[in-house]
Amino acid sequence: MISARNITKFFSVVNDDRTADGITAVLSVSLDIPDGRFVSFVGPTGCGKSTFLEILAGLQAPTEGEVWIDGRRVLEPLPATRKEMEAYRRRYRFLSPIANSLFRDRPKHDIAMIFQDYAVFPWMTARQNVVFALKLRGVPRRERDALARHYLTRVGLAGSENKYPAQLSGGMRQRLAIARALSVEPRIILMDEPFAAVDAQTRETLQEELLELWSGTGRTVVLVTHDIDEAVYLSDEIVVFSPQPGTVRNRLTVDTPRPRRRDDPVLADLRARILSIYRQDAEHRTDWSI
Ligand SMILES: Nc1ncnc2c1ncn2[C@@H]1O[C@H](COP(=O)(O)OP(=O)(O)O)[C@@H](O)[C@H]1O
Ligand SMILES: [Mg+2]
Repeated sequence: MISARNITKFFSVVNDDRTADGITAVLSVSLDIPDGRFVSFVGPTGCGKSTFLEILAGLQAPTEGEVWIDGRRVLEPLPATRKEMEAYRRRYRFLSPIANSLFRDRPKHDIAMIFQDYAVFPWMTARQNVVFALKLRGVPRRERDALARHYLTRVGLAGSENKYPAQLSGGMRQRLAIARALSVEPRIILMDEPFAAVDAQTRETLQEELLELWSGTGRTVVLVTHDIDEAVYLSDEIVVFSPQPGTVRNRLTVDTPRPRRRDDPVLADLRARILSIYRQDAEHRTDWSI
């Protein structure tokens, strides 16, 4: 169970004219996500979805509030002591925040994160990318190759193990990021707009693959997306965020049994409901933009 308690995130910003300002990216969000669920966060750009997801992952510290996973508090990944911090910097200075997402607290909490922009290391082959993640997680050397091969095969990259990311298409690169995340066999997978940068056709294929990789595993998936159709088709539950400040506006359960049909009228109704929530929000503000 992921349990976010009263999460608030405030950013100080300096304007162009050097005056100071503040943004409340997330305001008092409390949310429990039970094990094994597929939950999506939707909402217009700027409503704090990414910030909140990164707080769940421990990649950012909340200004207020706490995240607990299975009774353990998620803390920011940075080392606690100065000595540790120096060692960390020496070792990982070129890799953050990707390395952060693979490192430190994650083994303890069993979280993997997938970003929008194919966050894979360009100087490593597909296989090396996965092996490196396994190494950071402390998987013994002799197990790394077999795990890498297994997960690269599962996402359809068996023949491309020795290719560099530049030699892969966008969809393949995102498959690689998914293989890397899955290879460490996390119980929780957090994804931030993972399919936003691939074409519509590839997106549907990746969605199907994600469902297949998720179903029956008992893993928890939290997916941030601005694609309402994607959220409705994939999720058990949809959390609708609203902007300025970012808060949870609604939580909707999707009861439709799987496998689902993309043209299911029940899903279309749900989509219409979410859009009407967006519209209500928009009517209450003038400076709102999508
Ligand atoms: N590091 C930061 N410094 C200042 N403002 C930020 C920072 N990160 C996010 N924000 C602001 O917080 C708000 C929420 O951002 P974000 O979580 O990225 O929203 P979303 O993912 O829903 O589009 C936005 O107004 C954004 O500009
Ligand atoms: Mg975002």
